[in-house]
Amino acid sequence: MTQREAQSAGQQVEQRVELQATGQKVERQFTHQIDQLYWEQLKARLETKVDSMIEQLGDKCPHVAKADGVYDNTQTDWWTSGFWPGILWIMHELTGKEHYKKAAWPWDERIEQWLIKPSQELHHDVGFQFLPTAVVKYELTGDADGYRRGMQAANFLAGRFNAEGQFIRAWNFDKIGWAIIDCMMNLSLLFWASRESGDPRYKHIAIRHADTVLKHFLREDGSVNHIVSFDPETGEFIEALGGQGFGPDSAWSRGASWAIYGLANAYRNTGEQRYLDGAKRAANYFIASLPDDHVPLWDFRTDLAEGEPKDSSAGAIAASGLLEVARHVSANEARLYHGKAERMIRSLTESYMTGEGHEAILLHGTGYKPAGQNIDVSLIYGDYFYVEAVAKLNGWRRDIF
Ligand code: GLY
Repeated sequence: MTQREAQSAGQQVEQRVELQATGQKVERQFTHQIDQLYWEQLKARLETKVDSMIEQLGDKCPHVAKADGVYDNTQTDWWTSGFWPGILWIMHELTGKEHYKKAAWPWDERIEQWLIKPSQELHHDVGFQFLPTAVVKYELTGDADGYRRGMQAANFLAGRFNAEGQFIRAWNFDKIGWAIIDCMMNLSLLFWASRESGDPRYKHIAIRHADTVLKHFLREDGSVNHIVSFDPETGEFIEALGGQGFGPDSAWSRGASWAIYGLANAYRNTGEQRYLDGAKRAANYFIASLPDDHVPLWDFRTDLAEGEPKDSSAGAIAASGLLEVARHVSANEARLYHGKAERMIRSLTESYMTGEGHEAILLHGTGYKPAGQNIDVSLIYGDYFYVEAVAKLNGWRRDIF
């Protein structure tokens, strides 16, 4: 080969490599545009759905919808009362439409009454109730009542801290020494209260509780305990309990999703690497345990026969939590967590959505299987976290939790 021929061959190879790279870039851009179109269409579909829910639900405080497709009307001290208004606030921000804000507006006042009059149901879940109502209202509009209600709820939550055991007490009645994994999601109320008031004590409590979760709830393999019982006097660990999962050693999938999301939030609020490592450990276990359709069974570790019910709510919560994890990790890891979240939301959309006339968004949630309660139903928190994840995939960004 002459020098000129060699030069020309070299140039051809370079051109081919360049063309290939351009082709891959165009393909990536094209795939991205198709994905964006999918999420935008889903957003439009959700607008229609939530508009009809406003008509159907009226003043109801929805928690569970069974086979008849009608949401119940739960008392507003129940832990799920913030989710429907939370959907409305997200839709308001996502679309800029005022009717969502109008429908969301009264809810923090409705829930606040339970901070004044006695309720056995109001407990550590005030985060679930006041973050997507009072706090988001204050953040979006500067409303002074929203601020006051958010701070009152934070004081109530901080008052449940057990200093000897370094945990926030979960429920009422005789469960004085019980803490539960779900509480990770309520900690954002304490981080918010510290930021707003300049008083670090709220955040100190959240950090102590999160460290107790790393020590006593998150297992080596990334699965989690639902309940841990401590001696309320001495703070000593007594035992882990199965709670809403199959048993003490099982892996309740909704508990796992609370852990992923809650630990990622603790990282966002503190910058402490140990929480992000914990969130990733829980996420990796969750992802590895998913069945082919990417929607979890209600518990990943049961010794029951085939045919165990799914929990679509755990899938929706985990998807939104994985999108949070993806914000804080390397680009390669982010691709994994983001991609899995997208896959889960697509599966929920394609195979778990309700049909016309149904008051809920998602089918096939499981509330409390061991007690025989709310199996294969629609759950308002499944709907909320599904809407939240779809909003995030459309570029919406507000740290409600
Ligand atoms: N926070 C209770 C539950 O996840 O069912």
